Amino acid sequence: MSVSKMSNSSSNKVSTTTLVALTFILAAVGGLTVVIVMGGYSPLDFVRNIFDQLFAASSVQAMWYVTRAAGLISYLLLWLSTVWGLGVSSKIFDPVLHRAFAYDFHQFLSLLAIGFVILHIVVLLADQYLPFSVAQVLVPFAAPYRPVWVGLGTIGLYLTLLVSITFYIRRQIGQKAFRFIHFASYLAFLAAAVHGLLSGTDSPLVTVRAMYFGTALIVVFLTAYRIFMSAQAKRQRAALSGRA
Ligand code: HEM
Repeated sequence: MSVSKMSNSSSNKVSTTTLVALTFILAAVGGLTVVIVMGGYSPLDFVRNIFDQLFAASSVQAMWYVTRAAGLISYLLLWLSTVWGLGVSSKIFDPVLHRAFAYDFHQFLSLLAIGFVILHIVVLLADQYLPFSVAQVLVPFAAPYRPVWVGLGTIGLYLTLLVSITFYIRRQIGQKAFRFIHFASYLAFLAAAVHGLLSGTDSPLVTVRAMYFGTALIVVFLTAYRIFMSAQAKRQRAALSGRA
């Protein structure tokens, strides 16, 4: 069965799955809070203990690896979400995917990217190799390490949050405002790419550099294609209204 045919029939199932997933997440967060509060742990000590148990290694080293890995994964997810969004608006997927499914997946990718950014910064807060305070994470350019480039990461996160929130208030704010705010996703991607490239430990590696340049090039190419397609659609509309 094609995805387009499946999409309508599965929309109810998707919302049930989302509800079940949310219930599990809430139960896990609630359970964790009880363990932390009853055990008298500080939340950061609790994270450190988990790392010690999970990796049977120095939590300082393990956390540094995890925060970097989460940074790279969140960048790739943000890139995929940007590329997917450009694909949806250029109607690239229309012949093979139902528009509603493609749109939902775009939304899902943004949320997943935010999830990994949260992991990236929570582990950074617990990390002792490069200690950060909550204020240094949340206030742009206040970081103790490469403040300008790390600050771009904070701005990238805020812009991604802003764009993702508008998915849920689209009807209330209207299509024009939604589109206008959605332009900020380009800035979010750019901020994340420059942040990763110029503050990352892994950036001197040829493979990692190739990843940043390759992914950025694909975004530039798809943006040019998107502009071309909308100019063509405008010309066709003008020609049709001229004939009428
Ligand atoms: C859209 C949001 C963000 C994305 C996509 C992102 C992604 C990345 C990437 C790809 C790296 C390079 C990792 C490596 O080379 O190993 C990185 C490094 C880093 N990020 Fe973020 N980041 C974001 C937000 C933040 C925020 C809000 C902070 C908080 C201050 C932050 C702090 C850092 C730090 C300190 C590093 C350097 C770690 C290292 O040396 O590798 N990032 N980030």
